[in-house]
Amino acid sequence: MSKGKGKFIVIEGLDGSGKTEVINRLKKDFPDFVYSREPGGTVFGEMIRSVLLDSKSKKVPPLPMLLGFMSSRASHVQELVSPSLKKEVTVVSDRFDTSTFAFQLHGQQNRNLEKIFWFLRKNIIKELKIEYIYLRITPEIARLRSKNRDGNNHFDKQTKDYHQRVFKGYEHFFRKIKCFKIDASKDKESVYRDVYLHVKKLVNK
Ligand code: TYD
Repeated sequence: MSKGKGKFIVIEGLDGSGKTEVINRLKKDFPDFVYSREPGGTVFGEMIRSVLLDSKSKKVPPLPMLLGFMSSRASHVQELVSPSLKKEVTVVSDRFDTSTFAFQLHGQQNRNLEKIFWFLRKNIIKELKIEYIYLRITPEIARLRSKNRDGNNHFDKQTKDYHQRVFKGYEHFFRKIKCFKIDASKDKESVYRDVYLHVKKLVNK
């Protein structure tokens, strides 16, 4: 399998949308890609991740939380994504900025931070072309699927209304920004087939 032509592919979706399984299967089918995640992806990003996801961060005000995610993202882009693309190596990221938009701005009801979000986004991604794959499920389905899956960070332990707002955040973001949308309520095989064919097309372009 070739290294592809250096695409930056982001897998996004609500918890329970099947991101993890899709990424695990991509790892097998495209072993030469670089796989990373947000927050995280670099040594610095992973250090920030452990701070952001720690339950002690639950009460941290919105702006420092937003900046934390953005800081991890800036390191991810500068230290991992851009250098990989330069070498024509494709990077697949488990979450990226849609998550910040959905969780920090919509979920946490901080729409007043939108201007800062778009400003920082522009400065972090610059010319980077992002190929979003949105595994779309409704919060109702997400809830059903995650009933047996006990979330282990403070974002997972939120109310039904919160998850509804996060979903609206995803929808809102992808009305503004182009993505490849997949109905992830379908059976796993056909969801993965859609992802696989799209990724294959992207890297063969
Ligand atoms: P993780 O355990 O990786 O969750 P998942 O398997 O669902 O991706 O934890 C990442 C958590 O961080 C997840 O609950 C979403 C949250 N998050 C934000 O709140 N903002 C962000 O910008 C990102 C990237 C993640």
